[in-house]
Amino acid sequence: MEHDTSTQKHVLVAVAWPYANGLSHLGHIAGCYLPADIFARYHRIAGSRVLMVSGTDAHGTPITVKADQEGVTPEEIVERYNPRFHEQWERLGVSFDLFTTTMTDNHREVTWDLFRTLHANGFVDTKTTEQFYDPEAQRFLPDRYVYGTCPSCAYPEARGDQCENCGRTLDPVDLIEPRSKLTDAVPSPRETEHYFILLPKLRDELLAWLESREEWRGHVINWAKGFVREGLLDRAITRDLSWGVPIPPELDISTEHSDKRIYVWFEAVIGYLSASKEWAQRQGDPEAWRAWWEDPAAESYYFIGKDNVPFHAVFWPAYLLGYSAGSDRPLNLPTNVPANQYVTFKGAKASKTHGIGTSLLDYLEIFGADELRYALATILPEYADTDLAEDELVRKVNDELAAAWGNLVNRVLAMTRKNFDGVVPEPARLDERDRALLDQVDAALAREAQLLEQVELRAALREALTAAQETNAYLNALEPWQTAKSDRERTATTLWTALQAIAGINVGFAPYVPFAAARLDEWLGGDGQLEGRGWQRVEVPAGTELGTPTPLFAKVELPAAE
Ligand code: MF3
Ligand code: ZN
Repeated sequence: MEHDTSTQKHVLVAVAWPYANGLSHLGHIAGCYLPADIFARYHRIAGSRVLMVSGTDAHGTPITVKADQEGVTPEEIVERYNPRFHEQWERLGVSFDLFTTTMTDNHREVTWDLFRTLHANGFVDTKTTEQFYDPEAQRFLPDRYVYGTCPSCAYPEARGDQCENCGRTLDPVDLIEPRSKLTDAVPSPRETEHYFILLPKLRDELLAWLESREEWRGHVINWAKGFVREGLLDRAITRDLSWGVPIPPELDISTEHSDKRIYVWFEAVIGYLSASKEWAQRQGDPEAWRAWWEDPAAESYYFIGKDNVPFHAVFWPAYLLGYSAGSDRPLNLPTNVPANQYVTFKGAKASKTHGIGTSLLDYLEIFGADELRYALATILPEYADTDLAEDELVRKVNDELAAAWGNLVNRVLAMTRKNFDGVVPEPARLDERDRALLDQVDAALAREAQLLEQVELRAALREALTAAQETNAYLNALEPWQTAKSDRERTATTLWTALQAIAGINVGFAPYVPFAAARLDEWLGGDGQLEGRGWQRVEVPAGTELGTPTPLFAKVELPAAE
């Protein structure tokens, strides 16, 4: 593009990398993919330069377990699921700038750069430790292959890397009565050499930085600060495994009896940086990633579920600090990590009779993409776990989205068609009531922008809905269907005003229901592209020929119980 983009804000939208062993269920979608997309779309409309990246997480036990079950290689699993993810994002309208995988040469190179630099800077070193060895399977056990009782909460099925019950990150040796997932044998510790990241050396700097994070959600920042204050330990970043990113050749400590790889939780988070570099290469401008990572004015937001908080709010920032130590071009630390709580499925399970299950693709059989996005956006688990009640999702679409917003649009366009041949009429002088409505819409957009910037996406959506309800109230008060019989001028002014309000409200809904927003924009004479137009109401001039509307949203009906 020709125009100067140097003053635009650069916003990195970093989204958790889904394991390549299955597609997403609604909990994942509401947990991070939808919020990230809403946020990215808002910023693109507002004129920011957005880079939204993620990809499939190719390594880790979830993938090797799946591959073992199916008797195929882990590569095959990744290659199978990666295109399916692309299809899933397309159908739901999740607008990644790049969705790649951690299986690329580029990711290996970027991981090696971090590994080597952290090593050279004195933050990574080898240590001999004891690791669980399964005497029956005759192999070292990855953390997740060990389970036992959580030392914190006594949950009996805690995994070696983390207790799913209390969320605490664990080391397998912390477990009480550990067992092997492979054979159920009691594993015993054996000596093995590994690389460690020396987190205690980074503690003070990390804590000072966390203390400067004022806008973060309480549950994220409090957890992170508490964790760092309690005292960080050196953390192993390699494992005895044969599936994963290799250790840089000159530093490799694999032996004949133990093949070693970089631990998935060390390299997966590096994916945000490697994907940014891959994106830049694909743009034909290999240095372009720097604008998001090195410019201190750039912002970065990490959209994740709460189980990933330790890795994004503590470990990843620590790697970045250690990597950047002494550099004159330090990489940016996260601006915010707006982690979500969980979506639970008690309601959905109770209605399993509908046969819907929990997968995104199942729901897309019943809900249109916009309709599902809207319904989920109203229940995003921003501050507390949220149970998914299907009837509630349906009600949101039918009684809110379709009724308050879709019908409003269709009514106003139909009345303009009937009375003014589908051309935006010339208004007379606006009176108090007309101006009040447009002021309300503009104020709602301004408040919504503020909420979106703070990643308060549920509250932000309510502003758009309220503006639609106010426009409905305006129409009910001015009754253009009545005045059409007697006062053409008043009718013209009312419909002109309502059309302007609708154009503004469409901006407010656009991040949430992008397909409908593009269609409506075209009906209003636009090109369907809201990106870069600014977060504002743009006047639809009198004389504009309006498109022929069809219903903006489809009402949802749950399939009959079996
Ligand atoms: N694959 C991990 C999960 O699904 C998330 C990884 S996010 C990353 O929990 F940034 F570490 F890649
Ligand atoms: Zn626990």
